[in-house]
Amino acid sequence: MNEITPAGRFRDAEAAPAALDKRYREPVASSPAALPWSETLSVLLGHRSVRAFSAEPLAEGTLEVLLAAAQSAPSSSNVQAWSLVSVEDPALRAKLAQIAGGQKHIETAGLFLVFVADLSRVQRLAEREGLTTEGLDYTESFLIASLDAAFAAQNALTAAESLGLGAVYIGALRNDAAAVAHLLKLPPRSYAVVGLAIGRPEPAVASDVKPRLPQPGILHRDVYSTAGEEDVLARADAHALAFRAEQGLDATPWTRLALQRLHAVASLKGRHILRRQLETLGFPFK
Ligand SMILES: Cc1cc2nc3c(=O)[nH]c(=O)nc-3n(C[C@H](O)[C@H](O)[C@H](O)COP(=O)(O)O)c2cc1C
Repeated sequence: MNEITPAGRFRDAEAAPAALDKRYREPVASSPAALPWSETLSVLLGHRSVRAFSAEPLAEGTLEVLLAAAQSAPSSSNVQAWSLVSVEDPALRAKLAQIAGGQKHIETAGLFLVFVADLSRVQRLAEREGLTTEGLDYTESFLIASLDAAFAAQNALTAAESLGLGAVYIGALRNDAAAVAHLLKLPPRSYAVVGLAIGRPEPAVASDVKPRLPQPGILHRDVYSTAGEEDVLARADAHALAFRAEQGLDATPWTRLALQRLHAVASLKGRHILRRQLETLGFPFK
C-alpha cells in the first residue's frame, strides 16, 4: 500500500519492483521492496515515447503549465538561455514534418513545441547596456544554451506524462537546422535543439516501456571500468529482442541498432553539416 513518510515521500512497496522490472527486465536491487519511491519516480520510469495521438484536444492551459514546468528546470547561472516556439500553424507544422523526414506526429500532436538554445536575448541585453559579448562566441556558451533548452524540454516531457499525455522528441529538426531557423524566424545566436510533440495517446496504438542498458553497463563506482561489459551487452540485446518481438518489430539487437545510428555519415541524415550550419546561425565555437 502507499504510505506518505514524515519526509513527505510517497512509498509504494509494490510499485517500485514492478516499474524497475519493466525498465530493465532483470533484477536491479537485492531487496527492491525497500527502495525509496515516489509518484514522480513512477512517472519517470513509466516513460515511453508516444507517436500516435488522438484528435481530442488538450485541456486549456496545458501549454502554460508545461511551460511553467519547463521554466522550473535549473538553468546555468540562471541566464535562461533558451526560448520556446509553440508551432500552431498547420502549414508550418507540415514543413517541419517534411524536414524531419516525414514524421506525421508533428502534424497530429495537440502541441508541437520547439526548444531553442537562445543566446540572442543576452546579445540584445548587452547591446542595450552597451556591453561586449565576447563570451557568447565560445563553445561553452553554446553548450550552456543547449543544456538549458534540453533540461527545460525534459521537464516539459515529464510534466506532460504526469498529466497522462504522451510525447516524443523530434531531434530530426536538426536534419536541417538552418531551414528550421529560417521557418521559425529565429534570430542570430539561436537554434532549435529539439522539438517535442505532445498529445493524448491514441488508445488503439500500443506503446510500452523500452528496456534500457542494465545498470552495471552505465554505473561506474569511483573510476570508469569496462569489466563485465560483454555480459551487459549480451543482456541488453536479449532484453531488446524480447521487447521488439512483443512490439512486432524485427529481431535487431540493441547493439546493432546503436551502431546503425552512428556507423556512417549517411546515418546522420543531413546532420553531418550541423556544425557549419550552427556557425552560420551565430555560434562560432571559439
Ligand atoms: C534528443 C532526442 C531526439 C529524438 N528524436 C526523435 C525523432 O526525431 N523522432 C522519433 O520518433 N523519436 C525521437 N526520439 C525518441 C527516441 O527514439 C526514444 O526516446 C528512444 O528510442 C527510446 O525510446 P523511449 O523514449 O520510448 O524509451 C528522440 C529522443 C531524444 C532524446
